[in-house]
Amino acid sequence: MLNQTLSRLRCPRCKRSLNLELKNPSQIRGSDSIFDIRYGTLICAPCRARFPILEGVAVLVKDVRFYLLSHVKGISKLVPDSEIPKEYRSEYLQAQEEIQEEHIEEDLEAERVNALYLMNHYLRVQKSSDDLHPSWWKPSKEEGSPLMDSLVREYWDQGPFSQIERWVSQLKGASRKGVDLVELGCGVGGLYRQLQSSLSSYLGVDSSFASIALCRHLALGGPYRGTLRIPEDLLQGPVSREVKIPVHQCKGGDVDFIVGDLENLPLQSGQWDVSVALNTIDMLNDPIKLPQLQSELLKKGGIAIQSCPYIWHESIARKLRKKLPSEISTSARAVEWLYQKAGFQLKEKLDHLPWLFFKHARQLEIYSVHLFLAQKAMTRKLSN
Ligand SMILES: C[S@@+](CC[C@H](N)C(=O)[O-])C[C@H]1O[C@@H](n2cnc3c(N)ncnc32)[C@H](O)[C@@H]1O
Ligand SMILES: [Zn+2]
Repeated sequence: MLNQTLSRLRCPRCKRSLNLELKNPSQIRGSDSIFDIRYGTLICAPCRARFPILEGVAVLVKDVRFYLLSHVKGISKLVPDSEIPKEYRSEYLQAQEEIQEEHIEEDLEAERVNALYLMNHYLRVQKSSDDLHPSWWKPSKEEGSPLMDSLVREYWDQGPFSQIERWVSQLKGASRKGVDLVELGCGVGGLYRQLQSSLSSYLGVDSSFASIALCRHLALGGPYRGTLRIPEDLLQGPVSREVKIPVHQCKGGDVDFIVGDLENLPLQSGQWDVSVALNTIDMLNDPIKLPQLQSELLKKGGIAIQSCPYIWHESIARKLRKKLPSEISTSARAVEWLYQKAGFQLKEKLDHLPWLFFKHARQLEIYSVHLFLAQKAMTRKLSN
């Protein structure tokens, strides 16, 4: 975690604390005024809660013990056991022994799942002839699918990131200064790279340790063990093709990524021009909270950007249906209504934007995402 990020944070437990102090930092590198803390502990003065920084990743969650035990797969690939806080270490080591190889898509600490997002966030079709991974979507040892090839060529570079890039660059143009942007559920952090020329600051938050470590590696040159690999033919293993993604070394102190939980967000309110949450609302236990959260983070008149293919779990959809007016019967209208109720005015939207998700040389998923940009009221909150 960069020292300058501290001023953006608050305690995820008592919230009232604006004063997280750093104790026992170690392995600091950088200049005198901006440095990256690889190991240390953030301590909340009022409630005395302690939050570890492990390999540069600040873990700002309400229940640190539960987090370390349930994210052991991602953490143990990067963090030496000796750096796990003593009070949790024996349970953590036990959890390590129980790690399983899973074939499910939901495991956001798994290498394969991160690899899928890595492709989605960082690999492009137009630029891929130049370079390090030519035609990465085609199998290397046989003819690929002509249909997959034409879909990838037509749609891959035209997904949500490109549209958001246009919007954020317009916002920058209108304000004539860089945009302060916070991203909730940032995954492996590729949106930052796409938007960086329009930004004056960026903070990404996600609950996956493996994803945040990757973000920090690619954007800040943070430590990362192992090679970056993507799937090709699963006979060769879940991720068999190495890719070289250029590592940036952002020198300023105004870009960072932290582990946090959207249900107990460790961030100060009212600091950002734009808050973005892509493909995340349907993963939350209480989706109604997302627009409220985005609103809280924004300055007056700030902009929320939201997208999703709305793959609701039925128990969440059931709860949501109970809250909606009878005339609203689709996911897109429901989520627009939630944002309006939280005091936003919809300014731009696309009802169906194709978003391709490459799984391997014989599997390509097509999502149709609803993407919109909404503005927070300039004056007081409108909803009750
Ligand atoms: C479907 S992925 C989308 C990632 C990225 N925004 C994108 O569009 O490619 C959802 C992301 O939200 C994160 N996430 C899910 N629930 C979360 C929570 N309660 N707090 C923080 N992050 C969460 C996941 O770890 C994952 O990276
Ligand atoms: Zn506290």
